[in-house]
Amino acid sequence: MAREFGELELGYLREVLASGHLGWYHEENSMTTRLERAFAEKTGVGYGIARNSAMTALAQAVSISGAGVGTEVICDPIVHFGAVAALYFNAVPRFADIKYGTYLMDPESVRANITDKTRALIVTNLWGLCAELDGIRSICDEHGIFMIEDCAHSVGSYWKGKHAGSYGDLGCFSFQQSKHIPTGDGCVMTTNRADLYDRLYNEWAFSGESPAFLTLNFRMNEMTAAVGLAQLQRVDGYLEEYNENLRTMNEAIADCAWLRNREVPADAVQSGYAWACLWEGDHHGLEHERFKQVVADLGLPLRFGFNQTPAYNYDIFKVSTAYGHPDCPVRCPFYKSDYRYQDGICPVAEDLIWRIVNAGIMQVPSDDVRERADLLRKAIRITEKG
Ligand SMILES: Cc1ncc(COP(=O)(O)O)c(C=O)c1O
Repeated sequence: MAREFGELELGYLREVLASGHLGWYHEENSMTTRLERAFAEKTGVGYGIARNSAMTALAQAVSISGAGVGTEVICDPIVHFGAVAALYFNAVPRFADIKYGTYLMDPESVRANITDKTRALIVTNLWGLCAELDGIRSICDEHGIFMIEDCAHSVGSYWKGKHAGSYGDLGCFSFQQSKHIPTGDGCVMTTNRADLYDRLYNEWAFSGESPAFLTLNFRMNEMTAAVGLAQLQRVDGYLEEYNENLRTMNEAIADCAWLRNREVPADAVQSGYAWACLWEGDHHGLEHERFKQVVADLGLPLRFGFNQTPAYNYDIFKVSTAYGHPDCPVRCPFYKSDYRYQDGICPVAEDLIWRIVNAGIMQVPSDDVRERADLLRKAIRITEKG
């Protein structure tokens, strides 16, 4: 089912306008409350908390975790969102490596990166696939680490029968325009912890009292919640199409010896988000540049290498551009550690990122995805002919 914004959305929006309450309005029947409850039900968690973006929610999650100056937050290196959120509250992002088959945080590397400074962990359930969330949860419990799930891509993603966002102390789902539930911008946080729900729900930077923890106003407004509530009712239809598109692309390379499909563990249910595979042509005497050229000549919209490099090579971490001071936060006197952003800290990610071949499959009609899959088959044949 193609994305639709229509009467359903307008109906809820009219209700909001008629109520006269356009902003955060936590009453029994306000749109934010209804969206929070409906999303909590959808994901099987105790509580939802509506926010204005996943990025601000991640930062607020770091803030409430107790991480800050002189502490570390374990993050994964394919995308930078979690690490930027950690940095926002002056904590040092410390990067755990990923697994080659799934591109997701490796629990063994998490263990290896725990120090006496570790306060929180942010695990990304990248492109519709959950990391090994129960294993990571156990490690966090063992070491008193606050666990945050970046669920920006994971509506409809499950690990061991439980929805993404139900293992972490907090989960952060993005409702930004390109995500499963588009509201323009927005987010719902998930939690099973009543204490966190109460603290976040009652968080106001301008309520006239000292905020309970360092935070800003990250709330969602009623119009956004109205669109979100309607889109939530449509999302299963969207997911059917996205999942079909994912299968179509996976099938296109099923017989190819040098494009490796992403591994989906038996414990996971992947939801359609972006499609990705790994280039392994170098092990088969093929040239990467040649393959890229063939793809370009065929007009096939594929992306190579995704962000090109692990996030720790971004200036904001490596050159410490975040504070305009090269010593902050990794050479901060309150931190005192020899941890540095340098090659070799996540060898699997370093070998993997340049190999990624990916394609958008959401908002692309299934007929177009089938045509792209045929072109990909053709690109494989041409590349193999040399
Ligand atoms: C993995 C991941 N986390 C977080 C975000 C941030 O989401 P938002 O745009 O809602 O702030 C994104 C956005 O693309 C994302 O892809």
